[in-house]
Amino acid sequence: MQPKAITVRSLYERFPSEDLTKLGEIHVQGWVRTNRDSGSIGFIALNDGTCFKTVQIVYNDKLANHDEVTHILTGACIRVGGRVVYTPEMKQPFEIHATSVEVLGECASDYPLQKKRHSFEYLRDIAHLRPRANTFLALYRVRSVLALGIHEFFQGKGFVYVHTPEITGNDAEGAGQTFTIATNDDEGKLSVTDFYGKPTHLTVSGQLHVESFALAFHDVYTFGPTFRAEKSNTPRHASEFWMIEPEICFADLEDDMELMEETIKFCIQYVFDHCPDEMDFFDKMIAPGLKDKLNHVLTTPFKRMTYTEAVEVLQKAVQNGHKFEENNIYWGFDLLSEHERYLTEEVAKGPLFLTDYPAGIKAFYMRENDDGKTVAACDLLVPGEGEIIGGSQREERYEVLKKKMEACGNEKGLEWYLDTRKYGGCIHSGFGIGFDRLLMYLTGITNIRDTEPFPRTSSNIKF
Ligand code: 4AD
Ligand code: MG
Repeated sequence: MQPKAITVRSLYERFPSEDLTKLGEIHVQGWVRTNRDSGSIGFIALNDGTCFKTVQIVYNDKLANHDEVTHILTGACIRVGGRVVYTPEMKQPFEIHATSVEVLGECASDYPLQKKRHSFEYLRDIAHLRPRANTFLALYRVRSVLALGIHEFFQGKGFVYVHTPEITGNDAEGAGQTFTIATNDDEGKLSVTDFYGKPTHLTVSGQLHVESFALAFHDVYTFGPTFRAEKSNTPRHASEFWMIEPEICFADLEDDMELMEETIKFCIQYVFDHCPDEMDFFDKMIAPGLKDKLNHVLTTPFKRMTYTEAVEVLQKAVQNGHKFEENNIYWGFDLLSEHERYLTEEVAKGPLFLTDYPAGIKAFYMRENDDGKTVAACDLLVPGEGEIIGGSQREERYEVLKKKMEACGNEKGLEWYLDTRKYGGCIHSGFGIGFDRLLMYLTGITNIRDTEPFPRTSSNIKF
């Protein structure tokens, strides 16, 4: 067993209800942020990772290894023994007066994370060290906390969590952006059919599988990694990302949108409640005004617009002199991110549901509207990003679905999916939230590569 130590988190949690000065000799261990030595007295800012805050260690020349301690470099790992002393006149409510400082792991002087502002690009190149930088300590804690929040939200409503497979024989979205799985034989020869007898790939969405569980459990969700071989080099696309996909029975698109709005609002409140220090940090250092913006979202109903209306709004904007990179906007056109952002940023000035898209630009499983041209689908667009949710009411009518599947040629291999309509189908709906994009929205971080611990994008696999 290693010697026991107290976490910085528990010190801050126990203060002020408990008198920490009565704890006597305690130990803390963590990583040095800064070490300033001014002769007889020195200060170490220590972060132990258990909370966002650091604790100040004060040492003096009575330490047996004082000379060694004065030379401890940023990044070193240390163990400190000492007592808590209250400092009501200082920024931090208490500090630790050290009686011993032991170096557990020295840090080389070329440590890439020196105490200064580094660019996000630079930090991406040291993804193995950046979790120790404030922005990333904050981000990855929010990521962890919110993952639990998602489970609390859905399980609190009685949804069943389904582990949908990562390996699949279908391309749910039908966009063809899949990673195909291959095995190699003893000679290293690759085969895509040897193992399963047919080509398979990493899943782009757990939806089709989770639908079959909805039709047994009523309300379900899946939450896991998904993979898309999209070469889009944008701040919002990753080739591996996490998706939350609820699926609800006896629910149409209206019910679906209601759940989307409730989910987003729950997530905002959840990070406010569970990560206050981190949210303060983002508000101050990353996206000034973030908290006000999110608070406003919490109390305002999300706006709605049909795709057809959106096209008219965009066409009018172009007529009035607004310049998009792509100005040729017509009914049936698959809106680009710049158009989505215009709608949510300039028109709605907040989250916006865009509904009833042309069938031709959406996936086969979406329910055909009575007009025969559009489908009961919606995207949730947010300022700064564009789409963070895609959802729809599902085509529950066997014959209609079968025809659509035949038309897009994916009925072979998906017979089981059609079965769900044949054996007691019902009106049902669902959606997918990009977890990494949701994190961008909640933290004000503008690149998906920063919300993921080790981001995967094309030509980028250093880690
Ligand atoms: O709109 P998408 O493609 O919808 C689906 O996959 C449906 N099967 C979901 C469902 O109804 N169950 O993707 C859903 C969301 C997007 O709105 C976006 O937030 C995120 O997944 N997303 C990505 N995030 C990061 N990188 C990518 N390459 C992404 N592609 C989609
Ligand atoms: Mg989409």
